[in-house]
Amino acid sequence: MKRTGNTIFITGGGSGIGRALAHRWHDEGNRVIVAGRRREALEETVAGRSGMAYYELDVSDPDAIRSVAGRLTTDHPGLNVLVNCAGISGLEDPTTTRDLSRTSDIVETNLLGPIRMTDALVDHLKGQPDAAILVVSSGTGFVPYPGAATYSASKAAIHSYTLSLRALLKGATQVIEIIPPMVATDLLDGLTASPLSVPLDKFADDVMAQLTGQPEADEIIVEEVEPFRFAERDGKMREIVASMIADD
Ligand SMILES: NC(=O)c1ccc[n+]([C@@H]2O[C@H](COP(=O)([O-])OP(=O)(O)OC[C@H]3O[C@@H](n4cnc5c(N)ncnc54)[C@H](OP(=O)(O)O)[C@@H]3O)[C@@H](O)[C@H]2O)c1
Repeated sequence: MKRTGNTIFITGGGSGIGRALAHRWHDEGNRVIVAGRRREALEETVAGRSGMAYYELDVSDPDAIRSVAGRLTTDHPGLNVLVNCAGISGLEDPTTTRDLSRTSDIVETNLLGPIRMTDALVDHLKGQPDAAILVVSSGTGFVPYPGAATYSASKAAIHSYTLSLRALLKGATQVIEIIPPMVATDLLDGLTASPLSVPLDKFADDVMAQLTGQPEADEIIVEEVEPFRFAERDGKMREIVASMIADD
């Protein structure tokens, strides 16, 4: 991905990882547009930053995606980078019958959201110079956190989808997967207070350093997520899953 001079659209850019990356890309000299459901969060993200804009968008709503994609490419014809960062999580106990509404929301948002968002913009992006599609997955896509089974499954699925997209778009559009470890955001209660969470600024700085240092990389794998990303290769999957259950 080019370091500067891009026009970047980031879903989930109103808070957490999306906002931290949006600000860093803006600082580097890119035009940055953020999207999410909460207008106030988006306004805070763009406040005082010329060249930033926002759209209210619910990525679990296919009509809203089509509508925003149309406005986006009209308002910002130079758009060349899509960052699928919006996501939700949720703890659950799949060993007992329960209300599955949150489960559906997680799949709609974390899996169908990026698939539909990419679908809405891929034809435009393919025609742009230096085009890139970024997907924010999770270390739990590589080693599931059993307490968030559907969330982990949604991230494993979007990893797989990203592999296919990369293979098919080879030579036309770069496809990059950012794989966060536990990061101190509001994604789940307790994440910001946990000593196991990587501070948000450190994570965002490390991501930017890798994107800049390895502009052709397929995956952004910060140090803290390496045990998850490579668990299967290293034969550590069962051990890590067991340790997560023991910690609960
Ligand atoms: N923090 C971690 O430990 C961690 C670890 C691995 C992966 N991740 C991934 O990183 C990404 C960002 O999460 P975060 O940690 O930065 O948490 P966050 O601060 O809660 O950010 C999630 C963002 O997604 C947006 N969003 C959620 N549902 C949406 C929807 N239906 N339509 C549009 N936007 C929606 C939220 O904005 P609105 O509520 O305003 O819509 C929010 O800005 C997620 O994909 C998450 O799965 C996080």
